[in-house]
Amino acid sequence: MIDTLFWLCSFPPAGTYEARDYLKGDGRTAHPLRPPPLFIPTFFLSDIPAFVFSNVAPFSLSAILLFMGMRVIAVANQKGGVGKTTTVLSLAAAWAGMGHRVLAIDLDPQTSLTAATLGESYATGRESTPTVFDVLQDVVPLQSCLRFASEGFSVACGSYNLVGAEKLFGDDRPETRLRTVLDPVRSDFEYALIDCPPGLGTLMLNALTAANHVLIPVAPRYFDMRGLAFLLDTIDRVRDAFNPGLQILGILPTIVRRRSRHKRQVLSILADRFGDLILDPPIPETVRFWEAPSSLASILAYEPDSLGSRAYRQVAKEVLERVSP
Ligand SMILES: Nc1ncnc2c1ncn2[C@@H]1O[C@H](COP(=O)(O)OP(=O)(O)OP(=O)(O)O)[C@@H](O)[C@H]1O
Ligand SMILES: [Mg+2]
Repeated sequence: MIDTLFWLCSFPPAGTYEARDYLKGDGRTAHPLRPPPLFIPTFFLSDIPAFVFSNVAPFSLSAILLFMGMRVIAVANQKGGVGKTTTVLSLAAAWAGMGHRVLAIDLDPQTSLTAATLGESYATGRESTPTVFDVLQDVVPLQSCLRFASEGFSVACGSYNLVGAEKLFGDDRPETRLRTVLDPVRSDFEYALIDCPPGLGTLMLNALTAANHVLIPVAPRYFDMRGLAFLLDTIDRVRDAFNPGLQILGILPTIVRRRSRHKRQVLSILADRFGDLILDPPIPETVRFWEAPSSLASILAYEPDSLGSRAYRQVAKEVLERVSP
């Protein structure tokens, strides 16, 4: 524990960390380039080369469209088992329940999100539905891999084939693939949540390059906390190389054991280091989260009055405020 404290104290204090600069000021997450929401037919424009817009910005049209319409939120942490999929599922269900048009994208070869929303036949490919893998390979458009989940949001089906994504994407700006394939649906949804795989590979870079915001679930445990520094560094690099508008939406403490001294210490260190970036309330650890996915339900549908449901509903509202203009 002393080591953890020492290591975490090597972060610059809250307020000086570069990644936080986007969250300062009045709107916390408002981007100065963001225009009012517009209905624009984007499908026929996505391949227009960047030079046409070279007087606007040195990026492709996809990069410009990133600031319009649908807000894209990557739920990312290279550590496994910290609650990324659970967070995507819970936020998608909460926002759909509020009447928003939500897309959840399963970018993880483990296909947990697809399994938890559409069932194993989709997650294992028995359903022979097009998947995000086919979309990223330009075989089919994104719309063809969308299926409607019972809780009122759309799911872009994941595939085990994504495990080889690094090799299959080739060398031609592979990091921007996902951003480009999202263009045709930007006016169909208000919010897209990307369920990132663990690791810092091509899929994670694609998600961070396609996103307006990144939401980081963190389990308050020693190794999970260590990984945070690597992730923040990766985010800064993606911002420099591909996506200057990428904002850190917040850090969400997940799987938090009640009545644990270790938990209290870690939460207080996180609060000291990252200030307002820490989302509140933390998500409590409860067995209900293990049970819900096998019923093809989020915790909100499985046990609406549980502590976990209440926490995610509150976080869903807070996150909406942070991503809304
Ligand atoms: N608050 C919680 N309390 C108890 N268990 C939880 C909680 N949140 C998630 N879990 C459980 O922890 C496990 C890991 O969660 P989840 O799959 O959401 O993590 P992940 O970060 O997406 O993992 P991976 O990196 O492998 O994709 C799952 O069994 C999930 O049901
Ligand atoms: Mg997952």
